[in-house]
Amino acid sequence: MHTFNDLKAILDKSLHQAEFPAEPNQLYDPLRYILGIGGKRIRPLLALMSCDLFNEDPKKALGAAMAVEYFHNFSLIHDDIMDQADVRRGQETVHKKWNVNVGILSGDALLIKAYQQLDTYPADLFKPLNQLLCKTAIEVCEGQQFDVDFETLNEVSKEDYIEMIRLKTAVLLGASLKMGAFIAKASEKDAELIYNFGIDLGIAFQLQDDYLDSFGDAEHFGKRIGGDIINNKKTILFIEALKQSTSEQKDQLMKLYRLRDDSRQKIDEVKSIFEDSGAKTETLSLIEYYTSRAFDSLDQISVKSQNKQELKSLASYLMNRSI
Ligand code: IPE
Ligand code: IPE
Ligand code: MG
Ligand code: MG
Ligand code: MG
Repeated sequence: MHTFNDLKAILDKSLHQAEFPAEPNQLYDPLRYILGIGGKRIRPLLALMSCDLFNEDPKKALGAAMAVEYFHNFSLIHDDIMDQADVRRGQETVHKKWNVNVGILSGDALLIKAYQQLDTYPADLFKPLNQLLCKTAIEVCEGQQFDVDFETLNEVSKEDYIEMIRLKTAVLLGASLKMGAFIAKASEKDAELIYNFGIDLGIAFQLQDDYLDSFGDAEHFGKRIGGDIINNKKTILFIEALKQSTSEQKDQLMKLYRLRDDSRQKIDEVKSIFEDSGAKTETLSLIEYYTSRAFDSLDQISVKSQNKQELKSLASYLMNRSI
């Protein structure tokens, strides 16, 4: 078994060795940029950790790890265009630093580069890995479209919201782990259990992202605080606030969410309603609920429980993160 820090070092080396052509620089500079400004690298680490969990050399999962990190960064470039976000990882977003067309095309190139990372696997592994990445990529698109559709709906149920975040975020965490399991030739049952661990972890992860978008601090979070409120996103905070607020708070929230307004005042008013209605507290308890469901799946996997410790620590860290 490897420690988290060992795996991080293996991954960083591989990311640093990756090179893109010099020209056309408007296509490749943004890729060097987005990959160079960091991020937590959760998804590729999950791929390596899963392979390690099932007793295979984690280096064998580097191709899959690179694929999921490239895919993730592609999705962020396009997501920031869709969400009109100016800041990512504490730096300017690609479309802000260059322009929207550069964001579209460099994002497309990175998506293709993601798939190319799987080329090194033998045919019997390439097929399931590629199938899983294709299925996941389509699901992420579906989730992203539901997210946009929800902006203009008056009410969104909690079930629809959870399904939306399962698609836009959780399936990629699940797939990263399942790829590690495929590479390590884990049993079908264990591959499914580690996938389910990733789904619940991913739901908790997106709930935490929604929470931090309103209640984090900009310096740590690296994104503009209140971005979801400006875009009238139907996050868990909004859904729980509508459910739990007084009728005056509810009217006020609905009114604020009909405006296209990026003022400090709108952000502060909405945050007060999220807080006073109990939505903030409820969100934190949902994060705990999905993290503990994730642990239940992990517990059922047929490897020694001490081998699961690194994944458990990572899940606990994610639940309490500020970035
Ligand atoms: C951001 O993902 C997008 C979401 C799915 C919430 P991360 O929080 O993993 O972003 P980085 O890669 O660490 O910047
Ligand atoms: C993004 O959700 C999910 C994907 C990128 C597919 P968000 O829009 O909440 O992600 P951030 O907050 O911009 O990172
Ligand atoms: Mg976004
Ligand atoms: Mg988005
Ligand atoms: Mg977000």
